[in-house]
Amino acid sequence: MGFRAPDIAIDLGTTNTLVYVKRKGIVISEPTIVVVEARDKHLVRAVGDEAALLLGRTTEALQAILPIRDGAIQDFDTAAVLLKYFIRKAIGVNHLFNKPRVLICVPAGLPAVARKVVTEAVVNAGGKHVILVEKPLAAAIGAGLPVYEPVGNMVVDVGGGTTDTAIVSMGGLVVAQSIHVGGEKMNDAVVNYLKKNSGMLIGDRTAEAVKIDLASAIAPEGDNRRTHVRGRDLLSARVMDVEFTAAQAHDAVLEPCMAIMASVRWVLERTPPELSADIMRNGIHLTGGASQLFGLDRLIGSQLGIPAVLAKEPQDCTMLGMGYLLENPDLLADLAHSSINENL
Ligand SMILES: Nc1ncnc2c1ncn2[C@@H]1O[C@H](COP(=O)(O)OP(=O)(O)OP(=O)(O)O)[C@@H](O)[C@H]1O
Ligand SMILES: [Mg+2]
Repeated sequence: MGFRAPDIAIDLGTTNTLVYVKRKGIVISEPTIVVVEARDKHLVRAVGDEAALLLGRTTEALQAILPIRDGAIQDFDTAAVLLKYFIRKAIGVNHLFNKPRVLICVPAGLPAVARKVVTEAVVNAGGKHVILVEKPLAAAIGAGLPVYEPVGNMVVDVGGGTTDTAIVSMGGLVVAQSIHVGGEKMNDAVVNYLKKNSGMLIGDRTAEAVKIDLASAIAPEGDNRRTHVRGRDLLSARVMDVEFTAAQAHDAVLEPCMAIMASVRWVLERTPPELSADIMRNGIHLTGGASQLFGLDRLIGSQLGIPAVLAKEPQDCTMLGMGYLLENPDLLADLAHSSINENL
């Protein structure tokens, strides 16, 4: 029967969810958001792109739910709804009774209980035979690194909710750390900076725009760019407008950048010397949407004296890495027997 559902891979990210269908490639890349009726969260109004469109306009009757926090599922029911919607959209309703095999990534070192929650959410959403993969392994493959060779590769995946840093060699993680710092903490840092220094409250979208257009991980010497930021006066609640400079935007995001630096150092300090030599030679590879923060590559490179390189299509690397695994049955079989899948 030609009805066997295709294998799929899912990157259920804090900010964005991507789905890859075997032999097709990436078919879905949408925000990890569900909009529900405020009176009953089981009444789902929109998911993904459609939910993001509604977001700015949510009235009191509607509520936006972000089911993933810091890289892990925090709202099980909503995560399952989102997964079900994306799985159906990716492979079509024909396959409802013919469940797909699903590869999904999790942050490095995620506790066994949280891994089980991910597996259960996928099964609830209509997946069969769930295989978990460590996010930095997928990111390193997606960045085009020779992860199956006996050399050390270093990847730093700066996503929306987590930064996963790892040394990858011979198909496995040698040292890894996942911290709850990423693009969303950078947005929060901009919001907090304006609260503290201008007595003004801005929305997350404004903070995100400031981060992407103006903020930089390195001191913006000679950069006189500035922008007008609009928000609400914390005291009077009136709309107000302040000028925000590149130097202020840099100050705002410095703390999360330093937390990322500390994690990169932590991993490097625990790297076996023979692999360190490879990393000195081949550099540190940055993936994930927030690795595109202006100057983050230069900050890491200059502080450590090791070249830091932004991967091609950084936001898609984990998905492309999982896609590669999906297309290579031998690698997938090895993964299914890896230690992270033993307790399923
Ligand atoms: N040009 C840019 N500069 C800075 N940040 C950016 C840029 N483009 C995207 N981002 C940020 O990247 C983040 C999303 O990245 P990504 O899609 O890799 O996260 P995710 O996979 O959903 O999260 P996680 O892997 O942490 O669970 C957002 O915080 C977004 O603001
Ligand atoms: Mg990610």
